[in-house]
Amino acid sequence: MSDLSLSASAHTPQLVPASRAVPSLLEDVRDGLLRIPRELPPKYFYDDHGSALFEAICETPEYYPTRAERALLLAHAREIVEAVRPQVMVELGSGVATKIGPLFEASAGLGLAVTYCPFDVCAAVLTKSAALLTGRYAGLTVSPLQGDFTAGLDHLPVLAGPTLYMFLGGTIGNFTDPAALALLREIRALMRPTDRLLLGADRVKAMAVLNAAYNDAAGYTAAFNLNVLSVLNAGVGANFVPSQFAHRAFYNEQEAQIEMHLVSREAQTVELPALNTRLQLAAGDSIRTEISRKFSPDALQKLLASAGFAIERYFTGEDEAFSVVLAAPAAA
Ligand code: AVJ
Repeated sequence: MSDLSLSASAHTPQLVPASRAVPSLLEDVRDGLLRIPRELPPKYFYDDHGSALFEAICETPEYYPTRAERALLLAHAREIVEAVRPQVMVELGSGVATKIGPLFEASAGLGLAVTYCPFDVCAAVLTKSAALLTGRYAGLTVSPLQGDFTAGLDHLPVLAGPTLYMFLGGTIGNFTDPAALALLREIRALMRPTDRLLLGADRVKAMAVLNAAYNDAAGYTAAFNLNVLSVLNAGVGANFVPSQFAHRAFYNEQEAQIEMHLVSREAQTVELPALNTRLQLAAGDSIRTEISRKFSPDALQKLLASAGFAIERYFTGEDEAFSVVLAAPAAA
C-alpha cells in the first residue's frame, strides 16, 4: 500500500510497481512471434499514438461499445452511486475516462467526496484525463496511477471508505477465460464487504454488427492494429514495414470472440536483432494481435461467480448491445 498524498501533483501519475514479473516486450516477441500460432498481447497497442487511435475508433459510427456503455452509465449512474456510496473509485485501464462523468455528477449530487484513481499503462492518457476532470466536479480528487494491471494489484493503493472498482469498455474481453478469471479474483481479493465492482462487457450479437465494429470504413481500427508494428520497431529494434501487412478482424463464432490479425501481404523477412534472429513470413501468414470476447448474460454470470462475485444489477440497453454489471463480493 502506498500513500496517495505523497504524489507530487494531481497531474503526475503515481507509479504502481509490478507485484510480479511480467514478460518484457522482448520476451513477448520471442515467445509470441517465433512460434505458431503467432500472437502478441494487446496491451502493446497503447503507446501514445495507439491510445489516440483508440479514441478515434470510439468515435466511428461502427464501433458501438463506447456509445452503448456511455448510455448505460448515464442512465444508471444515480442508481449505481446510491447503491455503493463510493468514497473511492479505482478504474483499471481507464483510458481518457470520459465515460464516467455521470458517476461523478451523481456522487456530487449526493454530497460524496470521491477520490478517483484512474489506473492505466499509458502516462499520456492519465495526464490528459486528470487535466480534463480536475476542477469539474464538486468534491472530486483525481489521483492517477500508472502501471500494468496484468502485473498484479498488490501495490495498488487501498484507501479507506467504500470503493468502486471499475473495469469498463469491454477490456475483460481481451483476456482468455483463465486470465479473466485470475484478474477478477485479484480484484476480488482487494475488496471489503462494502466495495463493489462495476464491469463493462460486450455482448454476443449479430455477426455483421461485430465485424463492422472492428473494420471501420475510416480505417482507424486498421491503423490501430498496424501501429503495434511501430511499437515493436521502437521497443526491440525490429524493422517491420507496416505497409507490408494487412489488417484482418473477424468474429469467431465458435469462441465468441473477435480476433484481430496482421496478415503478411507477401513473403518477407523481418529482422529481430535483439533476439539475434529474423522472422520469416510467407504471404498470408498472420500474427494474432487481439481477442475481444463477447459475453452472453449467462457466460458473464458464470465468470463472475467463479471469481467470487454476485451480480447485484445487470444493466443493458434495449438493443442489448452491451452490458454493465454491478457485482458484490460473494461470501466465500
Ligand atoms: C479497449 C479492449 C475494449 O476489444 O473492443 C477496439 C479494443 N480493438 N477496436 C475492444 C479494440 C479494436 C477494445 N477494448
